Amino acid sequence: MTEPLLCELSVPGRRGVRFPKPEVPLADLPKGLVREHLPMPELSEVDVVRHFTRLSKLNYCIDQNIYPLGSCTMKYNPRINEEVARLPGFAALHPLQPIETVQGALYLMYTLQEMLKEIGGFAGVSLQPAAGAHGELTGILIIRAYHESRGEYQRTKVLIPDSAHGTNPATSAMSGMQVVEIPSDGRGNVDLNALRQHCDETLAGIMLTNPNTLGLFDENVLEVTRLVHEAGGQVYGDGANMNALVGIVRPGDLGIDVLHYNLHKTFSTPHGGGGPGSGPVGVAAHLVDFLPAPIVGIIEEGDDESAPLYGFITPSKSIGRVKSFWGHFGIMVRAYTYLRMNGPQGLREVAEAAVLNANYLLAKMRGYYHLPYDRVCMHEFVVEGVWPDAPGIHALDISKRLMDYGLHPPTNYFPLIVHEALMIEPTETESKQSLDEFARVMIKIYEEAHTQPELLKEAPHVTPVAAWTRSKRPKSWCCAAGWRRCPPNRPKRPDLNPLGVELKGVPSTQPLFISRSCSRTIVLRETRNAAL
Ligand SMILES: Cc1ncc(COP(=O)(O)O)c(C=O)c1O
Repeated sequence: MTEPLLCELSVPGRRGVRFPKPEVPLADLPKGLVREHLPMPELSEVDVVRHFTRLSKLNYCIDQNIYPLGSCTMKYNPRINEEVARLPGFAALHPLQPIETVQGALYLMYTLQEMLKEIGGFAGVSLQPAAGAHGELTGILIIRAYHESRGEYQRTKVLIPDSAHGTNPATSAMSGMQVVEIPSDGRGNVDLNALRQHCDETLAGIMLTNPNTLGLFDENVLEVTRLVHEAGGQVYGDGANMNALVGIVRPGDLGIDVLHYNLHKTFSTPHGGGGPGSGPVGVAAHLVDFLPAPIVGIIEEGDDESAPLYGFITPSKSIGRVKSFWGHFGIMVRAYTYLRMNGPQGLREVAEAAVLNANYLLAKMRGYYHLPYDRVCMHEFVVEGVWPDAPGIHALDISKRLMDYGLHPPTNYFPLIVHEALMIEPTETESKQSLDEFARVMIKIYEEAHTQPELLKEAPHVTPVAAWTRSKRPKSWCCAAGWRRCPPNRPKRPDLNPLGVELKGVPSTQPLFISRSCSRTIVLRETRNAAL
């Protein structure tokens, strides 16, 4: 299916809206302001609805199929979250309303803070940060403020394991810190010898992701936090992978001092298509005073007769505000609903099932794909997308071919320490059937790579625009979100087109290219007609 632009669908005289006849005399507009010609598309309501519905079908979403984007926790977002977030009592609030009129919302925020404290093993939580990366920046600013409050201005060095997400060094550098990379050892843990070398009086802290982005629980985590604390540093925990831990391990108990949660990952709030995220930060007791202001607290205790009064509190040494108003409230409502629906036991089962699903898939793919660190994994795992006996095939080719089978590719080329990485996170919301199907296709692609490698090289075959390759893409091309027709130049071969998508013209079921950012799933297309 290709989709014309609205102006191409336009039919002169067609209308989507009819205004009632005015009941007052018409007044003439000033001549200079009146236009003779207004080139707007002329369409009926149904034309427009169908246009956008067709466009929506060109995209890929978790409601359609497995979305195994590693490090992103693309789990199914239960519909009840949406229903609750749309209740007028939440959706119609204004952020400037007096606190007496928004006690329900403040109660929800307060309770969410308390629940996140309990889940993470922390003494305080701020709901302000708008994403994981924003939480990281907040956390590093808190660590910096803590050292400065003790007069330790020389503590500017932040250690970052080489498996870390790019936002870790970025947020440290943005906070004015000096970033030092720490290698991983042969089992994928932080290399303790390298860590020891950097534990000195300039150490501000370490940013640790556990389980790390290899999907492995760091076996030396207690030693890492001990060494850093002994040197006077602080431990930042990147909580993007909390889906493996909720209800089982509390990062605070491991010695983590600050951690961000990704509500849009672990707690099932939407994070495709550029929707708002939320990255609350939890801190240990000695950092509570540095939390960004305001946090929600009880400003007047209740008694048998009356409920407590909730309001906003500014911690005494606060780093200040990091977000306008109160954060992404709609996302908080969804996460709160998810937490309430699951309860403590349900949350533990979520993490157990996430780990089980990943290990099940790993076991099915073992023997076909090389595992650089062959250990029991947590909620995700990383394989190499290359084989010595399939020269010329890369991880990207495997991902492109997956799109022909109607499946979303895993994360590509991350973590950076794995050659041709494919990072796979099935999440707990996938059934055994969908895991079996994903494994079946991955094994099929393995076979194709060895027998018909051109199927992978030339993939995707059923997208509106074929793949860009560095060699084919002229420098002058730019990419942007947009939809244009492209010429019907694809061959009709069933082996190229395993879904049997209608290949008249240039049909599509899948987007051309999905960016790796988990907060932003962007469908990128060339703005001019492509003729690849
Ligand atoms: C390990 C890790 N840390 C941090 C982030 C940043 O989170 P966000 O996308 O919410 O800014 C991500 C996102 O992919 C991640 O995977």
